[in-house]
Amino acid sequence: MNVPVESGNSIKRENIHDKVISYYNQTWRQYCLVWLNADNLGIHFGYWDKDTKDHSQSLTNLNREVAKRALDNLKLGARVLDAGSGVGGTAFWLAENYPVQVMGVSIVDKQIDIARHYAKLRGLETKVKFEKQDYHETSFENESFDVIIAIESFCYCYDREKFFAECFRLLKPGGRFVICDGFRAKRGNNEEEALIKNFLICMAADDIDLLTEEEVSAIATKAGFKNLRLDNIQENIMKSHERIYRMSKIFAPISSFLHMLGLRTNVKHNNVLCGIHLWKVLEKGLCFEGIFSGQK
Ligand SMILES: C[S@@+](CC[C@H](N)C(=O)[O-])C[C@H]1O[C@@H](n2cnc3c(N)ncnc32)[C@H](O)[C@@H]1O
Repeated sequence: MNVPVESGNSIKRENIHDKVISYYNQTWRQYCLVWLNADNLGIHFGYWDKDTKDHSQSLTNLNREVAKRALDNLKLGARVLDAGSGVGGTAFWLAENYPVQVMGVSIVDKQIDIARHYAKLRGLETKVKFEKQDYHETSFENESFDVIIAIESFCYCYDREKFFAECFRLLKPGGRFVICDGFRAKRGNNEEEALIKNFLICMAADDIDLLTEEEVSAIATKAGFKNLRLDNIQENIMKSHERIYRMSKIFAPISSFLHMLGLRTNVKHNNVLCGIHLWKVLEKGLCFEGIFSGQK
């Protein structure tokens, strides 16, 4: 299954954490410039349907698509864990649209600070909390949550068995998880695998392997989950991928020049190239965006 971190290997875990933290710290300004805004606060690709008017709305739509798989019918005060909460966009949207309390966890201090700032600004401090925690091993008690969601954060999961075991521990009986992320259509040849790797490098996720539906389902089943389902939403995300591809092509030459002069870090430069590498992966149909859900 190519999981790079054996249980208990804290050095590798720290290396992956450092890489992810450094990536989000260095690219925050880029995200602010070309992707998210103070309304949506979404560090994810988005979801387009026939009624979607613009990019910002697509980012909010993805919250809706994830929520409708698990949050309808929840009782007042139900608890949701946002595993890999970024700067809180999804957590705020859920708390504003459902009668729930949300706990967001991220390993990036800066994101926690920004998310707490916006919670205050939006008057959501009592409904939405943020803590710096690793979603593989949280400090929450058994059966603390009704729902666990993870939007584009599962790609940083360095131990899938541990992650699903932790989700199982944290969910109440009947509780649901919903993961929105990239999945593999297949295992490719060397050349195809190199394309996927090039894309993952851009997102600081190259230590982690993407999984096929069969692989991820096997791990979730082993953890005890049932009613598993993976919906392919690539069609609804294509416009966002086209957008990031266009931006990459526009900014790549200037970014390459600055990088060559030593005025731009590898991390920032790779982030600019992300759309180009992603496009090559999509052209060959190697990966797709999916929403994977299951029940305890
Ligand atoms: C692409 S961002 C997505 C943020 C948010 N879900 C959204 O859609 O706006 C990935 C997030 O995963 C978080 N993350 C990565 N590894 C994590 C871990 N081991 N534990 C908790 N959060 C993690 C990062 O800190 C970051 O907030």
